[in-house]
Amino acid sequence: MRAIEIVDETGPDTALREVDVPEPEPSHPLTPGEGVLVDVHAAGVSFPEVLQTRGAYQVKPELPFIPGSEVAGTVRSAPAGAPVGAGDRVAAFCALGGFAEVAVAPEYLTFALPDALDFAQGAGLILNYHTAYFSLVTRGRLTAGETVLVHGAAGGVGTAVLQVAKALGASTIALVSSDAKGEVAKDAGADRVVLLSDTWKDEVKELSDGGVDLVLDPVGGDRFTDSLRSLRPNGRVVVVGFTGGSIPEVRVNRLLLGNTEVIGAGWGAYVLGRPEINREIGAAIAQMIADGFVRPVVGERFPLERAVAALHAIDERRATGKVVLDVRPA
Ligand SMILES: NC(=O)c1ccc[n+]([C@@H]2O[C@H](COP(=O)([O-])OP(=O)(O)OC[C@H]3O[C@@H](n4cnc5c(N)ncnc54)[C@H](OP(=O)(O)O)[C@@H]3O)[C@@H](O)[C@H]2O)c1
Repeated sequence: MRAIEIVDETGPDTALREVDVPEPEPSHPLTPGEGVLVDVHAAGVSFPEVLQTRGAYQVKPELPFIPGSEVAGTVRSAPAGAPVGAGDRVAAFCALGGFAEVAVAPEYLTFALPDALDFAQGAGLILNYHTAYFSLVTRGRLTAGETVLVHGAAGGVGTAVLQVAKALGASTIALVSSDAKGEVAKDAGADRVVLLSDTWKDEVKELSDGGVDLVLDPVGGDRFTDSLRSLRPNGRVVVVGFTGGSIPEVRVNRLLLGNTEVIGAGWGAYVLGRPEINREIGAAIAQMIADGFVRPVVGERFPLERAVAALHAIDERRATGKVVLDVRPA
């Protein structure tokens, strides 16, 4: 099969190779001896793949390896008792191996793809939407009527958080770095959009009558202190990622003074190896799709062989929504 491998850690320009390799066996490391084989139509591209080309991601597989954590396609074979079977359209989280014509995923991370979503949207469903639900609900304890500030709101995680928060009955404020990204956030359902500037925190406080209940932060960096200052009493900042580059430090007296919290949300660390929680989150997201709240925003699309260009879009802060590789014709 055709696939893209990461062969060294020299960065997105030089670390990728197109290769012809044997198809995977129907066995996944999380479910040894069992796995759903998927004929891949679309593969999702995310921040970790950029980091993996530099050896800068926490998961460091032995080189060379096929990156790509999630795909959408049709099932070729599934273990007995799996919720999907041969020929079904699915979205699947394979963790690695997605930039290829065939991928293998655990049955509990493979979900039927509703007709309302095409394969490209399916390739943007699991990582971002399960993370959004996990961060907002499981970790952030969001309730209907609360207000959420979303950093990086036009990105993959950001657009997913906007839609899931709406489905949960919250109102949303999107923080973005450009007008064009503001439009993407609005289209994804943001109630308000604030542009990144020296005064964003004051604008957010004004729009939220004094402070938000939850800040959802995939960006980190030097805006973190202002995130804490944007909270109302009992407010929470949920830490999801660090696309801004630096890992913020918290002066904990701020938490005491404001009666606020900083909460970590590591979706993979929590859910991998736990079938039940994945099925619960999958069912909640399926309902949000059926109710029309969840429609993954697909940004730039590239053919598999142009994976380098896909990584550049993310690395250069140009990406909006989910970046997708088209692996075979629709
Ligand atoms: N905790 C978890 O379980 C979990 C799960 C999935 C993903 N993540 C992490 O969440 C983060 C976001 O992922 P994503 O797929 O949403 O990425 P993305 O689509 O590229 O969006 C990230 C956003 O970060 C902002 N940003 C600020 N500084 C940036 C910079 N120097 N370079 C690039 N972007 C910058 C950009 O928004 P503006 O330009 O508007 O500022 C961009 O839209 C990543 O760190 C990823 O690893 C964590």
